[in-house]
Amino acid sequence: MGAIAPADATAIARAAMLLSQGELVVIPTETVYGLAADATDPRAIARLYAVKGRPSFNPLIAHVRGRAEAAEQALLHPRALALIEAFWPGPLTIVAPRRPGASVCELACAGLPTVALRAPAHPGAQALLAAFGGPLAAPSANRSGRLSPTHAAHAAEDLGEAAALILDAGPCALGVESSIVAVTGAGEALLLRAGAIESGRLEAVAGPLARASAGDPVRAPGMLARHYAPRARLRLDADRPEPGEAYLAFGARAGDLNLSPAGDPGEAAANLFAHLRALDASGVPAIAVAPIPEAGLGEAINDRLRRAAEGR
Ligand code: TXA
Ligand code: MG
Repeated sequence: MGAIAPADATAIARAAMLLSQGELVVIPTETVYGLAADATDPRAIARLYAVKGRPSFNPLIAHVRGRAEAAEQALLHPRALALIEAFWPGPLTIVAPRRPGASVCELACAGLPTVALRAPAHPGAQALLAAFGGPLAAPSANRSGRLSPTHAAHAAEDLGEAAALILDAGPCALGVESSIVAVTGAGEALLLRAGAIESGRLEAVAGPLARASAGDPVRAPGMLARHYAPRARLRLDADRPEPGEAYLAFGARAGDLNLSPAGDPGEAAANLFAHLRALDASGVPAIAVAPIPEAGLGEAINDRLRRAAEGR
């Protein structure tokens, strides 16, 4: 079982060394904790899929320091470059055609002709990428289909056995995963995952984005309907709890926990996974969730909630 260490310079140097030996390391980012592996090492990537219990058709995000490193991996249309210019480093993932000779291994891309790239803003993640000197594949550090971890302890709970080291940098500031935009070679742009950047802000830079639909399995493999799920059943848009249900409130409503008493979608996003995890851990059979307005980050929050509630 990997030790949890504060993400200081010593631990980051050790993490870089472990990664270069093919080990897995839990890393902080501004969105959620990631389980990192050397993106160029198919053996490390195979282990990553195995310990996550991840369907092998679901490709990984390669984390890079910035635009120059991304350009080594992918063919970036000016529309992709405009998004990168505006939002990197930060919670935006760009999916683009793989460049011939790219070092990110095919297994990390699940055999697709495209690669997903993100330059995280978190100083710990940036320091690690600098120390490691190459791209790091890092899915959220949860077992496949479970809640994403926003605290190092959550990651330790789910994947502590598999990680050689867990870098702890406190709670993640944003709490929902990156927004994912695919930009084809011809410059068509598609929102694959609503995420930490409001879609309106992306569209202000890139123009209108097509939306991935559920019937689009390969273009958006991570859009598996049931995802991000707690053990308890979820009931959404609930004005009040039924007997036996825990209540996850929002705004002025009272509840067992409140995503944001002030009704702030950013605060709600940061609390979402930790609050669901806490209510789940209390052992209740069902969690009722108050309505969350769709505006701003509400889109990403409601997307995660619908996936968590699916098929129960
Ligand atoms: O905020 C985040 O993005 C976090 C942190 C750790 O950076 N990472 C994360 O990774 O959420 P993960 O593996 O949980 O989600 C990656 C998503 C999946 O839905 C996957 O299907 C999609 O990215 N993806 C990756 N490569 C793709 C590709 N080539 N084409 C389409 N979708 C892709
Ligand atoms: Mg995930």
